[in-house]
Amino acid sequence: MAEFRAPVGTRDVLPPESARWERLVARFAGSVEGAGYGLVLSPMFEEVGVFERVGEGTDVVRKEMYDFDDKGGRRIALRPEGTASVVRAYVQHRPTPPFKAWYAAPNFRYERPQAGRFRQHHQLGVEALGTDDADLDVEVVALAWSVCAGLGLAQVTLLLNSLGDDACRPAYLDLLRSFLSSAALCDELCDEHAAGYDKNPLRVLDCKRETCVTATAEAPRLVDHLCEPCATHFTRVRAGLDSLGVVYTLQPRLVRGLDYYTRTTFELAAESLDSAQNAVGGGGRYDKLAEALGGPATPGIGFGLGIERLLLACDAEGVFPVPPSSLDVWVVDTTGGAAAVALTHELRAAGISADRSFDGRSMKSQFKSADRSGARLALVVGDNEVAAGTVTLRDLRGGEQETVDRADLLEHVQERLS
Ligand code: HAM
Repeated sequence: MAEFRAPVGTRDVLPPESARWERLVARFAGSVEGAGYGLVLSPMFEEVGVFERVGEGTDVVRKEMYDFDDKGGRRIALRPEGTASVVRAYVQHRPTPPFKAWYAAPNFRYERPQAGRFRQHHQLGVEALGTDDADLDVEVVALAWSVCAGLGLAQVTLLLNSLGDDACRPAYLDLLRSFLSSAALCDELCDEHAAGYDKNPLRVLDCKRETCVTATAEAPRLVDHLCEPCATHFTRVRAGLDSLGVVYTLQPRLVRGLDYYTRTTFELAAESLDSAQNAVGGGGRYDKLAEALGGPATPGIGFGLGIERLLLACDAEGVFPVPPSSLDVWVVDTTGGAAAVALTHELRAAGISADRSFDGRSMKSQFKSADRSGARLALVVGDNEVAAGTVTLRDLRGGEQETVDRADLLEHVQERLS
């Protein structure tokens, strides 16, 4: 029979690699909860309209959505990104603002798989709703930055831009359109954008094709056309980041792949990764999204960090390795297994992690498993120990061993582990 495999563009994360994921999520949770963000769990699928608000002109919505009719005839989509779901939940439940949420969750995009690009990827993210105070932008950007720094990543650049708002962006877009129309007339844009620049001219700035990059090198920059409130807001964000020592590069071409952004936008680019997929994270303000989802006008900002890409960047830089086993004790039982049943149960109840072999393996085989497990101690029970009411403790890293009374076992194990 043909063997099943994980679907194209997805991957299984098995131990011990998965221990790195656990540690990453735990660290992230620790740092964002320490800043007042609470965990939000939202459904992995929503009515398709929720995600259409992310921008009907974006690839994420137009080409990559896993959407289908459910058995009740509702048009449903698997979540392609976390922000729309969290904002939908905010609009539905109206928690008291500011509402600060974090998540660690899978997202689904029907993209062409390649290194660092999956059809199911996972993001660590935060969303903060209820204020447009520039100090919040500083907080959110600095949090994303310190997650990378905390992992030991040194080759990640923070790119920063402002995309303005409804007051200043339309006039800028007109300016950009007329610039692009001359470029299109001279056949200087790629095929996709020569035909489509009018609808979403900002996308052209994001185009990685040589033709568009060259043609837009001198294009007008939105940062030069911000209205006074947006310019002041951006100045405050930059001053705040400067005051925290968060190093960033202004990137006036940074437009991001989702349409809901206003004002502050940012991306974390790993120089150690192939440039096509080197964004380990990104985010920004989306001050109009809550309204677009039928809620009251509520500004918001957040970011998403791609777990797979963060770990690829860690591999490339040789930081944040798979942690060593955290197993405390391996029980080696040569009396048939019943002693190991009791001992592992007792140790686990006392908060000491313990494992064992099964199937009545030989002592040699059990020690092999003990070594492979990475446990600190082996606890050996043979016929002699059972008769004498003792157990033998062996340090698997140093090698020394001692035989102790069964009754004092926990005390001895705890002492050796401490
Ligand atoms: P995004 O830039 O689409 O933003 O995704 C955030 C991060 O998720 C990317 O920088 C990348 O690391 C990772 N990622 C995205 N797509 C894939 C993929 N196909 N395979 C592997 N990794 C991927 C958002 O999703 C926004 N919701 C971020 C945000 C939160 N903005 C405001 N709040």
